This record gives sequence, structure tokens and C-alpha cells, in this order.
Amino acid sequence: MALEIDKARGCILIDKKGKRYVDLISGIAVSNLGHNYPAVNRAIQKQLKKYTHVMVYGELVESPQVLLASKLTSVLPEKLESIYYVNSGNEAIDGAIKLAKRYTGRYEIISCTNAYHGSGQGALSIMGDEYFKNAFRPLVPGNKLIGFNDQASIEKVGCRTAAVVVEPVQGEGGYIPADKEWLTLLRKRCNEMGALLVFDEVQTGYGRTGKLFAFENYDVVPDILCLAKGFGGGLPLGAFISSKKIMDSLTNNPVLGHITTFGGHPLSCSASLATLKVLLKESYIDEVKEKEALFRKLLVHDRIKKINGVGFMLAVEFESEELNRKIIAECIKNGVFTDWFLFNAKSMRLSPPLVITRDEIKRACKLIIKSINEC
Ligand SMILES: Cc1ncc(COP(=O)(O)O)c(C=O)c1O
Repeated sequence: MALEIDKARGCILIDKKGKRYVDLISGIAVSNLGHNYPAVNRAIQKQLKKYTHVMVYGELVESPQVLLASKLTSVLPEKLESIYYVNSGNEAIDGAIKLAKRYTGRYEIISCTNAYHGSGQGALSIMGDEYFKNAFRPLVPGNKLIGFNDQASIEKVGCRTAAVVVEPVQGEGGYIPADKEWLTLLRKRCNEMGALLVFDEVQTGYGRTGKLFAFENYDVVPDILCLAKGFGGGLPLGAFISSKKIMDSLTNNPVLGHITTFGGHPLSCSASLATLKVLLKESYIDEVKEKEALFRKLLVHDRIKKINGVGFMLAVEFESEELNRKIIAECIKNGVFTDWFLFNAKSMRLSPPLVITRDEIKRACKLIIKSINEC
């Protein structure tokens, strides 16, 4: 498309020619407070005046990391008390896999059909889609797939399994939420087999499902929680979070079991903390469910087969990939920015900033219906 965005404010993208687009994507679930949020900008600028990068992990203390860690652990369950910062979702998953292998002494990693966890060797190796993996084989050995929401395949989790990695709401599969019963059984099986349960909340994290974290919808707590995307408040940041007991296994034999130069960059941690504080204070997360209902009420059309997903992770399904692509292109022409999914070509992605107003939703939905009619 080569659409060049000149400025972004709130939920509006403005291109070089001054044309405005309602942003229904948030840079793929990143800009949860929209663009240019004053409190986040102020926090970045304040830190910018102090320092950008000095040196991390031990020798020097970077206070933005500490402040974020203490705020974050104050809202997480007790056993998610130790944070390792990285730069992206892919790295968070990679760190989680290494941690699970090191802690359990096992190497088998189980993931789900249609899972997307990132594009590096580690995350790609556990991706649930052959088409995207095949050209890069051989990959990291030891991966087994189970069916997402398939209770029968849970028994594949065994005494050789180091970890099961799951997205509570599958992202690239087309915003498919996990069944509560399935996740509960998976948690039980992991406990029985001594395997760690890893939740990939890279897309769901920081409010997208109507809770700060998606696992709160399930009453299931993972052993390792992975965050990125919206966690960084618009800047690159990722993390894998666990108990101190589990995390400590990266500190010995070898010492420095995981290393990153920029992980937990002070500007990113400042943006993340400011975002978290706003989300805890304001009512944006509480309004997600009601605004989801408004999208569902307004997006009714013969050509819309169904709307999958939860909260601000919605997938609007059409009858074919061809029609979906045409409608997405028409939406962009009409001033609504939407996108597609890697593993679900018939569906249009809606992941708007959490701050989107009811009027903006009404305007966007009107333009989507107009675009469908014009295709
Ligand atoms: C669920 C999930 N996990 C991990 C990743 C990888 O994150 P990143 O692109 O920051 O490496 C993504 C990216 O889309 C994702 O959606």
C-alpha cells in the first residue's frame, strides 16, 4: 500500500496528503491508549532528559525498570513476581522457552495449531502453521502440536514436556478465545506432569479483552507470562514473568543464562509504566465489553458471516479471502484502517485503541458497511 502516515493523534491516522483514517488496528494491538497520549509522552520526555541507555542487569540500576516491575507485580498474582525484560514478543517467547527448559531439565515444548508466537527460530519452531514454517526447516527440535480447544489432545502433555505455550485468545488464528474448561484442564494436566504453563499475552496484554490480562477471564494463572506489543505503550518492550524460584534457574550454571543489551529500555519502561497507571486509573478497560457490543450491533450485513473474538480483538468473517481483501482495501479508501490475519484469510481484523469513543466506533462501522456495499 505504501501509505505514508504523517501524524497520529488518538484513534486517527493522518497521511501526507492530510487524509484521515480511523485506526482500527493500533499497529497490531500496540497503541492501546491511541497515539500521542499526553501522560505517556510526558513520561518518555521526562526520562529522555535523564538518560536513554546506560547499562542493564546488575552493575547499574535503571530505575524505570524497577518502578515498572514493582507496579506490575503489585497487580499480578503472587507467583508472577519476577520479571525479565526483553525488546519484543518473539524474545519474550524465546526467553520463556529457555527458562522452561532450564527449570524442568526437559526439552519438549507443546504449542497449539494456528498458534503464532513470533518469527525467530525459537518462536517459529513452535508456530502452529506448516506453510510459514516449512521453508525454514530444520527448526529447533522437540515441538509437538495440540489442537487449540481440543480436550482430547491434552493427554499429549507428558512427563517429558517442559512447557505448554498458549495464547489465551489466538491472535493470528483469527481471534479465537480459549474455552475456559479446556484451559482449566490444561492447567491441571501441566501440574500433574510437572510441565510449565506459559501464556503468550503479547496481543491480549494490557486490557484488550476487557481485563488487564486475559488470564483474569479464566481464573487460570500461568507459570510464565509473556508480554510485549501494548505492554510497551507504543515503544518496543517485552517481558517474561515468573516466580523467583523458576526465574532463578537462569542465574546459575551457566551464570547469565539469558542476556540482552537493550531489554527493558528506560524509555520503553517509562512509557509502559505511564500506560499502566492510566489504565488502572481511567475506565478504558471497563468500557471494552460495552464498546465491543456496539461494534457487534452496528456490524450487521448479509455478507458478514460472523464476528469471532472477544473485547477489542474482533475478527469479521466474510465468505472468501478475495472478498475480505477487497473490503479491507475499500475501507482504507473510505478512511478506516483495518487489516487481515496470517492464518485466517477470510477475516478482517479489528483491534482498535482502547480509548476509541462511541462516536468514532459509529463512524467507523458506518464506513465499513459503506465499503462492504461498494464491493
Ligand atoms: C500472540 C503473539 N505472540 C508473539 C508475537 C511476536 O511479537 P513480536 O512481533 O513483538 O516479536 C506476536 C506478534 O504478532 C503475537 O501476536
